[in-house]
Amino acid sequence: MMKTKTLVGEFVTGSARETIRLGRKLGAAIDTPLAILLYGDLGTGKTTLSKGLALGLGVKNANDVNSPTFVLVNEYRGRFKIYHVDLYRLDTLSDLESIGLDEILQSQAIVIIEWGEKLARLPESALRIRISDLGDDKRKIEIKYCNSIG
Ligand SMILES: Nc1ncnc2c1ncn2[C@@H]1O[C@H](COP(=O)(O)OP(=O)(O)OP(=O)(O)O)[C@@H](O)[C@H]1O
Ligand SMILES: [Mg+2]
Repeated sequence: MMKTKTLVGEFVTGSARETIRLGRKLGAAIDTPLAILLYGDLGTGKTTLSKGLALGLGVKNANDVNSPTFVLVNEYRGRFKIYHVDLYRLDTLSDLESIGLDEILQSQAIVIIEWGEKLARLPESALRIRISDLGDDKRKIEIKYCNSIG
């Protein structure tokens, strides 16, 4: 976890490529199963950052990393098992149950969650990443680490 903490901070990227590169650095620094909650308006770059994260976590083909908007959850294999969840279309709690999110969050996996604000309960520890549109192709990317058990 220590390496991951070193990436906490605020970054500005100027293109989707730069966001992928940042995600890749972050992914490469992750050395333990972890939840990563992504926040940000429609089209700000949550899936783009997820691609980078997956690459940094050892997923070979970035093309495998696509928005799970309709399926709610994708699964990839890198240095860890990776679940990529998109809660945007989540309407009911039973949807959460049907994708087995509680089990997923308790598994020894990296769990990347787009629209983290839709989670009813936050995981004990998580990286929280907020992306904001600064106009044109600029994005502010704020990375925090929260741990309720200290
Ligand atoms: N600096 C940047 N970082 C990330 N994406 C950028 C940047 N500049 C432009 N873009 C573009 O913004 C779009 C981001 O789309 P993406 O699917 O990653 O967003 P999202 O937050 O996952 O959207 P959704 O809310 O629909 O899930 C892409 O078309 C990407 O090329
Ligand atoms: Mg997305």
